[in-house]
Amino acid sequence: MFAGETEFVKGVVAMDGLPDPDRPEVCFAGRSNVGKSSLINALTGRKGLARASNTPGRTQEINYFTVGESHYLVDLPGYGYANAPLAVVEKWQRLLKNYLRGRVTLRRAFVLVDARHGIKPVDEEIMSLLASAAVTFQCVMTKTDKLKKGELDKVLEQVRGKLQQFPSAYPELVLTSSEKGDGIETLRAIIAGID
Ligand code: GTP
Ligand code: MG
Repeated sequence: MFAGETEFVKGVVAMDGLPDPDRPEVCFAGRSNVGKSSLINALTGRKGLARASNTPGRTQEINYFTVGESHYLVDLPGYGYANAPLAVVEKWQRLLKNYLRGRVTLRRAFVLVDARHGIKPVDEEIMSLLASAAVTFQCVMTKTDKLKKGELDKVLEQVRGKLQQFPSAYPELVLTSSEKGDGIETLRAIIAGID
Protein backbone atom coordinates (compact mmCIF):
# COMPACT_ATOMS: atom_id res chain seq x y z
CA MET A 1 0.00 0.00 0.00
CA PHE A 2 2.87 2.43 0.70
CA ALA A 3 3.94 2.05 -2.91
CA GLY A 4 0.82 4.03 -3.93
CA GLU A 5 0.42 7.79 -4.12
CA THR A 6 0.64 9.65 -0.86
CA GLU A 7 -1.18 12.93 -0.69
CA PHE A 8 -2.12 15.60 1.77
CA VAL A 9 -5.93 15.67 1.96
CA LYS A 10 -6.80 18.42 4.40
CA GLY A 11 -6.16 20.07 7.73
CA VAL A 12 -9.12 19.89 10.07
CA VAL A 13 -9.83 22.37 12.87
CA ALA A 14 -13.26 21.17 13.99
CA MET A 15 -15.05 17.83 14.16
CA ASP A 16 -17.48 18.77 11.37
CA GLY A 17 -14.52 19.23 9.02
CA LEU A 18 -13.42 15.60 9.16
CA PRO A 19 -13.43 13.77 5.79
CA ASP A 20 -16.20 11.26 5.12
CA PRO A 21 -15.57 8.13 7.19
CA ASP A 22 -15.24 5.97 4.09
CA ARG A 23 -12.02 4.06 4.81
CA PRO A 24 -10.00 2.80 7.76
CA GLU A 25 -7.61 5.25 9.39
CA VAL A 26 -4.77 5.19 11.89
CA CYS A 27 -3.56 8.20 13.85
CA PHE A 28 -0.32 9.33 15.42
CA ALA A 29 -0.69 10.80 18.88
CA GLY A 30 1.96 11.87 21.33
CA ARG A 31 3.55 14.68 23.26
CA SER A 32 4.56 17.76 21.41
CA ASN A 33 7.87 17.31 19.59
CA VAL A 34 7.91 13.50 20.02
CA GLY A 35 8.25 13.04 16.24
CA LYS A 36 4.73 12.38 14.89
CA SER A 37 5.11 14.41 11.69
CA SER A 38 8.63 13.09 11.08
CA LEU A 39 7.35 9.53 11.40
CA ILE A 40 4.64 10.14 8.79
CA ASN A 41 7.27 11.54 6.46
CA ALA A 42 9.49 8.49 7.02
CA LEU A 43 6.58 6.07 6.47
CA THR A 44 5.54 7.73 3.23
CA GLY A 45 9.09 8.40 2.07
CA ARG A 46 8.23 12.04 1.49
CA LYS A 47 10.32 14.38 3.52
CA GLY A 48 8.26 17.55 3.46
CA LEU A 49 4.80 15.97 3.44
CA ALA A 50 3.92 16.52 7.10
CA ARG A 51 5.46 19.64 8.55
CA ALA A 52 8.03 18.75 11.16
CA SER A 53 10.05 21.18 13.18
CA ASN A 54 12.00 21.74 16.30
CA THR A 55 9.35 24.13 17.60
CA PRO A 56 6.95 22.24 19.86
CA GLY A 57 3.35 22.84 18.82
CA ARG A 58 4.16 22.81 15.11
CA THR A 59 1.13 20.74 14.09
CA GLN A 60 -1.98 22.67 15.09
CA GLU A 61 -4.63 20.89 13.04
CA ILE A 62 -5.69 17.31 12.46
CA ASN A 63 -3.89 16.62 9.19
CA TYR A 64 -5.16 13.90 6.86
CA PHE A 65 -2.98 12.04 4.38
CA THR A 66 -3.98 9.25 1.99
CA VAL A 67 -1.80 6.30 1.20
CA GLY A 68 -3.05 4.84 -2.04
CA GLU A 69 -6.82 4.76 -1.82
CA SER A 70 -6.95 2.37 1.08
CA HIS A 71 -6.21 4.20 4.34
CA TYR A 72 -5.93 7.58 5.93
CA LEU A 73 -2.90 8.45 8.03
CA VAL A 74 -3.77 11.13 10.56
CA ASP A 75 -1.20 13.51 12.06
CA LEU A 76 -2.43 15.00 15.33
CA PRO A 77 -1.45 18.10 17.27
CA GLY A 78 0.82 17.24 20.18
CA TYR A 79 -0.31 17.31 23.77
CA GLY A 80 1.49 18.31 26.94
CA TYR A 81 2.81 21.51 25.48
CA ALA A 82 2.07 24.53 27.65
CA ASN A 83 4.01 27.24 25.90
CA ALA A 84 1.19 28.62 23.73
CA PRO A 85 -1.74 30.81 24.78
CA LEU A 86 -3.98 28.75 27.06
CA ALA A 87 -7.12 29.33 24.98
CA VAL A 88 -5.33 27.97 21.90
CA VAL A 89 -3.97 24.92 23.69
CA GLU A 90 -7.40 24.18 25.12
CA LYS A 91 -8.98 24.37 21.69
CA TRP A 92 -6.55 21.80 20.21
CA GLN A 93 -6.85 19.54 23.20
CA ARG A 94 -10.63 19.54 23.01
CA LEU A 95 -10.50 18.72 19.30
CA LEU A 96 -7.91 16.01 19.89
CA LYS A 97 -9.98 14.35 22.60
CA ASN A 98 -13.22 14.56 20.63
CA TYR A 99 -11.46 13.03 17.65
CA LEU A 100 -9.92 10.18 19.64
CA ARG A 101 -13.23 9.41 21.34
CA GLY A 102 -15.56 9.89 18.42
CA ARG A 103 -14.04 8.86 15.11
CA VAL A 104 -15.84 5.71 13.95
CA THR A 105 -13.28 4.70 11.33
CA LEU A 106 -10.27 5.06 13.65
CA ARG A 107 -8.85 1.54 13.77
CA ARG A 108 -5.72 2.13 15.76
CA ALA A 109 -4.00 4.97 17.57
CA PHE A 110 -0.23 4.86 17.60
CA VAL A 111 0.90 6.56 20.77
CA LEU A 112 4.41 7.84 20.22
CA VAL A 113 6.81 7.84 23.13
CA ASP A 114 10.23 9.47 23.06
CA ALA A 115 12.79 6.72 23.67
CA ARG A 116 14.73 9.04 25.97
CA HIS A 117 11.80 9.94 28.18
CA GLY A 118 9.46 6.96 28.45
CA ILE A 119 5.80 7.24 29.35
CA LYS A 120 4.84 10.48 31.12
CA PRO A 121 1.64 11.21 33.08
CA VAL A 122 0.09 13.03 30.08
CA ASP A 123 0.66 9.91 27.97
CA GLU A 124 -1.13 7.82 30.57
CA GLU A 125 -4.05 10.26 30.42
CA ILE A 126 -4.38 9.82 26.67
CA MET A 127 -4.04 6.05 26.99
CA SER A 128 -6.81 6.01 29.61
CA LEU A 129 -9.01 8.02 27.27
CA LEU A 130 -8.32 5.60 24.42
CA ALA A 131 -8.96 2.59 26.62
CA SER A 132 -12.27 3.98 27.85
CA ALA A 133 -13.30 4.82 24.26
CA ALA A 134 -12.36 1.25 23.23
CA VAL A 135 -9.82 2.49 20.66
CA THR A 136 -7.02 0.00 20.20
CA PHE A 137 -3.64 1.60 20.70
CA GLN A 138 -0.03 0.64 20.27
CA CYS A 139 3.11 2.37 21.53
CA VAL A 140 5.77 3.44 19.08
CA MET A 141 9.12 4.47 20.51
CA THR A 142 10.66 7.38 18.60
CA LYS A 143 14.19 8.80 18.27
CA THR A 144 15.86 5.52 19.23
CA ASP A 145 18.98 6.78 17.42
CA LYS A 146 19.56 9.13 20.35
CA LEU A 147 20.24 6.34 22.85
CA LYS A 148 22.70 3.56 23.50
CA LYS A 149 21.28 0.07 23.73
CA GLY A 150 21.55 -0.19 27.52
CA GLU A 151 19.77 3.13 27.97
CA LEU A 152 17.01 2.07 25.62
CA ASP A 153 16.48 -1.21 27.49
CA LYS A 154 15.91 0.69 30.73
CA VAL A 155 13.27 2.92 29.16
CA LEU A 156 11.58 -0.08 27.52
CA GLU A 157 11.26 -1.68 30.94
CA GLN A 158 9.52 1.45 32.26
CA VAL A 159 7.20 1.51 29.24
CA ARG A 160 6.28 -2.19 29.54
CA GLY A 161 5.58 -1.70 33.24
CA LYS A 162 3.28 1.26 32.61
CA LEU A 163 1.44 -0.56 29.82
CA GLN A 164 0.41 -3.35 32.17
CA GLN A 165 -2.42 -1.14 33.44
CA PHE A 166 -3.88 -1.16 29.90
CA PRO A 167 -4.79 -4.73 28.98
CA SER A 168 -6.28 -3.56 25.68
CA ALA A 169 -2.99 -2.02 24.46
CA TYR A 170 -0.98 -3.95 21.91
CA PRO A 171 1.90 -5.39 23.88
CA GLU A 172 4.29 -5.22 20.92
CA LEU A 173 6.36 -2.03 21.03
CA VAL A 174 7.59 -0.66 17.72
CA LEU A 175 11.08 0.83 17.96
CA THR A 176 11.68 3.54 15.39
CA SER A 177 14.08 6.17 14.23
CA SER A 178 12.73 8.45 11.52
CA GLU A 179 16.25 9.78 11.18
CA LYS A 180 17.89 6.39 10.52
CA GLY A 181 14.88 4.56 9.09
CA ASP A 182 14.86 1.89 11.81
CA GLY A 183 11.49 0.22 12.37
CA ILE A 184 9.83 2.04 9.49
CA GLU A 185 9.28 -1.05 7.35
CA THR A 186 7.89 -2.90 10.38
CA LEU A 187 5.41 -0.12 11.04
CA ARG A 188 4.40 0.01 7.39
CA ALA A 189 3.61 -3.68 7.51
CA ILE A 190 1.55 -3.24 10.69
CA ILE A 191 -0.49 -0.45 9.09
CA ALA A 192 -0.96 -2.36 5.83
CA GLY A 193 -2.41 -5.22 7.87
CA ILE A 194 -5.11 -3.06 9.47
CA ASP A 195 -8.46 -2.95 7.71
P1 GTP B 1 4.33 18.67 17.14
O1 GTP B 1 3.68 18.77 15.80
O2 GTP B 1 4.86 19.98 17.62
O3 GTP B 1 3.47 18.01 18.16
O4 GTP B 1 5.67 17.76 17.00
P2 GTP B 1 5.84 16.34 16.28
O5 GTP B 1 5.52 15.26 17.26
O6 GTP B 1 5.13 16.30 14.99
O7 GTP B 1 7.42 16.30 16.08
P3 GTP B 1 8.25 16.54 14.73
O8 GTP B 1 8.07 15.42 13.79
O9 GTP B 1 7.97 17.91 14.25
O10 GTP B 1 9.76 16.42 15.27
C1 GTP B 1 10.24 17.22 16.31
C2 GTP B 1 11.76 17.29 16.25
O11 GTP B 1 12.32 16.00 16.51
C3 GTP B 1 12.30 17.70 14.87
O12 GTP B 1 13.40 18.56 15.07
C4 GTP B 1 12.73 16.38 14.25
O13 GTP B 1 13.78 16.52 13.32
C5 GTP B 1 13.19 15.59 15.47
N1 GTP B 1 13.04 14.13 15.26
C6 GTP B 1 11.91 13.49 14.90
N2 GTP B 1 12.11 12.15 14.77
C7 GTP B 1 13.42 11.95 15.05
C8 GTP B 1 14.26 10.77 15.10
O14 GTP B 1 13.85 9.62 14.85
N3 GTP B 1 15.56 10.96 15.47
C9 GTP B 1 16.07 12.19 15.77
N4 GTP B 1 17.34 12.27 16.11
N5 GTP B 1 15.31 13.31 15.71
C10 GTP B 1 14.01 13.20 15.37
MG1 MG C 1 3.79 17.57 14.16
